[in-house]
Amino acid sequence: MSRKLIIGSSGQIGTELVIKLREICGKDNVVAADIKQPIDEVFYGGPYEEINVLDKERIKDVVLKYKVEEVYILAALLSATAEKKPDLAWKLNMEGLFNVLELAKEKVIKKIFWPSSIAVFGPTTPSKNTPQHTIMEPTTVYGISKLAGERWCEYFFNKYDIDIRSIRYPGLISYKSSPGGGTTDYAIEIFHHAIKHGNYVCFLEKNRALPMMYMDDAIRATIELMEADKEKISIRSSYNVGGISFTPFEITQEIKKTLPNFEISYSPDFRNEIAKSWPSHINDQVARKDWGWRPNIDLDQMCQTMLKQLKTDFV
Ligand code: SER
Repeated sequence: MSRKLIIGSSGQIGTELVIKLREICGKDNVVAADIKQPIDEVFYGGPYEEINVLDKERIKDVVLKYKVEEVYILAALLSATAEKKPDLAWKLNMEGLFNVLELAKEKVIKKIFWPSSIAVFGPTTPSKNTPQHTIMEPTTVYGISKLAGERWCEYFFNKYDIDIRSIRYPGLISYKSSPGGGTTDYAIEIFHHAIKHGNYVCFLEKNRALPMMYMDDAIRATIELMEADKEKISIRSSYNVGGISFTPFEITQEIKKTLPNFEISYSPDFRNEIAKSWPSHINDQVARKDWGWRPNIDLDQMCQTMLKQLKTDFV
């Protein structure tokens, strides 16, 4: 069992990925790392190291200390925060990736997972059934950094044969840890507000559809991609993966099935402009063909789970 290092283990994806990988691989084989302490389940559930992804020597020390073979780089600034801090977003999103790519080139590590996003697409991309290979002219800082990162991943694979794998995540819905400054965060906030206050002011317009996915599916996609045989991986930039697609209005209708008095109003802000530049529905046939990707969780199941879990948390 190859030992793994998860950089960004306090974040939305990192939290759940560490927990799941420790279940599968054993707790001592999954080292969690972040600049801020993760939730107790991650912190006390196995090895944890403080790492700043911008500090290459520190990453190398931890890799050597634990004899790590695989690194997952989940530390990043998401779309909405990146628009407010463009310099930091570019630095963090690119240098973090480069530090790990360089360590792989130096043969210190063997395999990398790096997350891309639907943000690599832009207003000129076909927005429905968006293909794997298509026009990509992102208009956000986050999208530009992810597209550049994809190109570098493919370059390092072609030039140095580095086994790097990636997914273009849609908006991810989860309850264990908070999302960090994305455009798709409304689809999580809405559940918290529905339960706590019975109403929600949405920062996207009523009919703005976006690709989304429940976290369990996203974690499974990540693990399945990383476990797939090397010869099955035909995409070394990043794979489209589809889950569910819905609008703020549609998710509201679903929530109302459980909470009939829930009310939503709309006050679109700059995040609606970001959302307008992204696709509404992703075509993932290449991921399906190459490594057998299939989403499991639909809108109804996702809403039921979120409401049930968050209600328990608030009681
Ligand atoms: N969830 C991300 C965001 O909204 C998209 O990858 O920024």
